[in-house]
Amino acid sequence: MGVLVINVLECKSLSKWYGEAAVLKNVDFNLAQNEIHAIVGENGAGKSTLVKIISGLVPVDVGTIKFEDSDRTFAHIREIQNSGVTLIHQEPRLFPDLSVLENVCVDYQVRDGKGKRFNWKKAEEETKELLAQLGCSFSVHSPVKALSVADQQMVDMVSALRKKLKLLIVDEPTASLTPSEVARLFATIRKLNASGVSIIFIGHRLEEVLEISTRVTVLKDGEVVAVKKTSETTEDELIRLMVGRNIAASKTDSRSSSKEVSLKVSHLESPGFVADVSFEVKKGEILGIGGLVGAGRSELLETVFGLRKRTAGEVVSSNHGSIKTVKQAISARVALVPEDRAHNGLFLNRSIGENLVITNLNLTSKGGKRNFGKETQIANELIEKFRVKLSSASQLVRELSGGNQQKVSLAKWLKQEVEILLIDEPSRGVDVGSKSEIHQFLNNSAKDGMAVVMVSSDMRELIELSHRIIVMRNGRIAGELSGSEISEEAVLRLASGLATAGKGN
Ligand SMILES: Nc1ncnc2c1ncn2[C@@H]1O[C@H](COP(=O)(O)OP(=O)(O)OP(=O)(O)O)[C@@H](O)[C@H]1O
Ligand SMILES: [Mg+2]
Repeated sequence: MGVLVINVLECKSLSKWYGEAAVLKNVDFNLAQNEIHAIVGENGAGKSTLVKIISGLVPVDVGTIKFEDSDRTFAHIREIQNSGVTLIHQEPRLFPDLSVLENVCVDYQVRDGKGKRFNWKKAEEETKELLAQLGCSFSVHSPVKALSVADQQMVDMVSALRKKLKLLIVDEPTASLTPSEVARLFATIRKLNASGVSIIFIGHRLEEVLEISTRVTVLKDGEVVAVKKTSETTEDELIRLMVGRNIAASKTDSRSSSKEVSLKVSHLESPGFVADVSFEVKKGEILGIGGLVGAGRSELLETVFGLRKRTAGEVVSSNHGSIKTVKQAISARVALVPEDRAHNGLFLNRSIGENLVITNLNLTSKGGKRNFGKETQIANELIEKFRVKLSSASQLVRELSGGNQQKVSLAKWLKQEVEILLIDEPSRGVDVGSKSEIHQFLNNSAKDGMAVVMVSSDMRELIELSHRIIVMRNGRIAGELSGSEISEEAVLRLASGLATAGKGN
């Protein structure tokens, strides 16, 4: 017989309904002592729901959960949290106006509060130490809302590390991290694992899933379709299992872009974030922007769009002239799809239909009168095109899975005649199938003459989709790569300051 496997967690026949919709169906899930178990599946497959149930945030309707020999199905949330189980959410849940340190200590103030004064100094030292271990360089005193999503996840991670951990669940921690940040995070996960913490890892980048995990569970439409040893499976097999169809490759053909400049940015400055940045993007070109988290990539897009204060420089659309404000950007047919879509791109408490229509009112209303038939038609078209998984168009956006929210926030722009698309992390959080559809959309739009400026931390996406790449570092352009110069290594060298090439600096 084989080695005796001790399970720390045993879930039996879990089922969960939201209204009429069964989102988990008879799910069995076991986690062995000390394993790193990955969960993969399409957007809306039920991954987040499963881990929310395991961590006690959402009640299960049917089924039993055993954690370290105790039945936790009906336990009080406080008990579950004190049992050493921590979930790091797909969308970080922090207090945006409080500082990093305050967010990390929120729990502790309550707990240490028995007449004793909270020791801020000690907490600050600990927090700094943990942040340094994770390789983060932001200040513990900056308000959390000033941080990128990736950095916010790190703050969540620090809070988790301060607790006594037995089971750490990370729901898509790498969605907007670049390779070196992923490596750092994986080192932390491995270290925790070596010290006895069991790990559940949810991710859409399958190469990372294969790298970090020891076993993989595949969910499809709320059901477990396979449990595989990582060493005995492949990316292709996982895709087949989770999607059940072939995925088109998305390499951009290098010839397409024209000579005609669509947007010209000169000497753009936004204090603290963007320093003397100049570039052009041509009609039909996909210009990739690479760099590490914090390099100023998102801020660059925001400054170009007029959202962020600009202290110097110029942005000029060849067809519509100078752009200084958001209003001018919109009338120049520029669109910005932001990274943090839950906060910047969507009205969470409105229906999917309304969210899709709000950017398209010019197409659906005349003389201030709404045409509801037309609205429904446009909403349905977009829902179908992007395969948004929902129960009806009148469902609230907040009820969608993370990846499906992303799809809605992308889709709502795509009915408009956009000449210049500024897009931040186009496939953050979306599954492999939808990712390839988004890539095809970007490719086709470029072929039709749209100019695309795309920030991406996903190295494959950046390299496969871009005609040209500029790499940012500390708010500046560290170098530019095109044609055969484009490689993962070249991007990383520029991003980390190991090389300088092309223009800038
Ligand atoms: N509060 C809710 N009310 C209604 N439906 C919900 C709610 N939360 C989740 N759902 C539905 O449950 C299904 C599973 O969602 P879940 O978030 O678990 O998916 P996921 O596998 O994590 O997807 P993603 O990869 O997009 O994060 C989705 O169809 C979603 O719309
Ligand atoms: Mg999810």
